[in-house]
Amino acid sequence: MDIEALKQHEISGAIAISAGAGGLPRLVITTPFSTAELYLHGAHVTGFQKTGEPRLLFLSAASQFAAGKPIRGGVPICFPWFGPRVGGPAHGFARLTDWHLAATSAAPDGRVSVRLRLPEAAGFPGKVEYLVTVGATLTMELQVTNTTGATLEFEECLHTYFSVGDIATVVARGLKGLKYLDKVGGLKLKEETDKAIHFTGEVDRVYLNTPQPVIIEDGKLHRTIRVEKTGSNSTVVWNPWVTKSKAMADFGDEEYHRMVCVESGNVGQNQVALAPGEFSTLKVTLSSQIG
Ligand code: BG6
Repeated sequence: MDIEALKQHEISGAIAISAGAGGLPRLVITTPFSTAELYLHGAHVTGFQKTGEPRLLFLSAASQFAAGKPIRGGVPICFPWFGPRVGGPAHGFARLTDWHLAATSAAPDGRVSVRLRLPEAAGFPGKVEYLVTVGATLTMELQVTNTTGATLEFEECLHTYFSVGDIATVVARGLKGLKYLDKVGGLKLKEETDKAIHFTGEVDRVYLNTPQPVIIEDGKLHRTIRVEKTGSNSTVVWNPWVTKSKAMADFGDEEYHRMVCVESGNVGQNQVALAPGEFSTLKVTLSSQIG
């Protein structure tokens, strides 16, 4: 990608575009409330940090930044499928595709927005756009329009990696009473009995029919994170723990202590089906507070 040509989308004091890790085009976004980073590779938000707070998103020190490889951390976009697929890349091709930078803008209230488009050549037969708005909160909207003459089915997930002080002090709230598929226990359907989910081993759960927000409490950082969403009926909670961490080449053996994924989307039986002309928006807003 021609970084010089992308610079037409720069906004003085708000958006700077340059070669990031691996030489990939990166937007550095600065607002009166926060900073953020976004790669066109995967339309991947790799960083968000509110002024006066530690960074909100985890990014692995072992992540690759290369064509054809997903970035480990931040917010990978899983689309148009979630999880493994025979004959296709895990979590779909969107996170491996270089997205088109369609527009940038800075609002009078200080928020800064970036709009990206999945190129047609990626192979999805509808229109897919991603709107990222950076302010005191981080909002991400995956907008899909069925421009075909037939029903369009897909899965989608904003696979958000949160940075935490120590996973031993973290709990996730808001999922009690909900059904989930336990990927650790061989995809058994279970019901969440805990008000506060603790992390003491590998956790890999797909909660179904869950439009509710999730709260992450981080005891070490004294931080509360709120994951608010609309247009999403699935929540995935993931921490790879010891064995899986060691098995992932692009993830440090000890990094599981400092991250947790709470992912918002529509997967499995919650997948989206759009009639011709219909559109859907998966919208996630992340906010946080210390103390
Ligand atoms: C989670 C899945 O969403 O993503 C896990 O539930 C998976 O099963 C994890 O291991 C990471 O996937 P990947 O493809 O980025 O290694």
